[in-house]
Amino acid sequence: MSTATGELKRVTTHTIQAMKNRGEKIAMLTAYDFSTARILDDAGIDILLVGDSASNVMAGHETTLPITLDQMIYHAQSVVRAVNRAMVVVDLPFGSYQSNSEIALSSAIRIMKESGAHAVKLEGGEEVEESIRRILRAGIPIMGHLGLTPQSIYKFGTYTVRAKEEAEAQKLRDDAKLLDELGCFALVLEKIPAQLAMEVSESIEIPTIGIGAGKHCDGQVLVTQDMLGITKEFKPRFLRRYLELFEAIGDATKRYITDVKQLDFPNDSEQY
Ligand code: KIV
Repeated sequence: MSTATGELKRVTTHTIQAMKNRGEKIAMLTAYDFSTARILDDAGIDILLVGDSASNVMAGHETTLPITLDQMIYHAQSVVRAVNRAMVVVDLPFGSYQSNSEIALSSAIRIMKESGAHAVKLEGGEEVEESIRRILRAGIPIMGHLGLTPQSIYKFGTYTVRAKEEAEAQKLRDDAKLLDELGCFALVLEKIPAQLAMEVSESIEIPTIGIGAGKHCDGQVLVTQDMLGITKEFKPRFLRRYLELFEAIGDATKRYITDVKQLDFPNDSEQY
């Protein structure tokens, strides 16, 4: 997307809404570091999510719970520095918004001020309504997140598909409507039946962005390391791998090791 003068036009909340309105799908990926964000932005991704999945993917934790607000801000700063066009959305980490709305607002303000990101994302519906109201009143755009919400993994007990039962599906419908009415600008739907995701996407104004939620969402998101095949063992049904980088990087590393050991690297033209 470029202007008449050829400069890139930044993706904003308005761009995202206009995409839904004209039926154009939204492509979102996660990013946690400068180099990767540069590549994804250059390729034309619409939204980069500095997800709290950094806790798993970058730091090797089993869940998203341990990552701190300071660590999220560090990742977000690196991504923001890389980006020319994409909208950068940053996850509010576990513990930074659930206890009360004052803490939620101060966490969101820290992310926006210290990283230069364009929006925050948080998990949950009516339970966090007060926090959402307060952050939105401060002019900070919010992306919601319903369905499988990994910050509640110890409540769920498993990472299986959510909202298969009618009671949970109805709560999700109600929460989606609430987030729409409160003024969130988009909504992630994670690991729920495709039929329910379609119903929600059609019944609310704001765009839905699915992960394991089927083809009827207004956009899709994947964790970049999963999509590139860096995370070797993670192979859920919803994941499409576009590369097998675990093997490719491993092969390159083996070739490098061999070259060093056999005195082939560096050669005469690779030294001063
Ligand atoms: O943290 C994350 O990567 C996410 C996506 C899976 C939506 O929340």
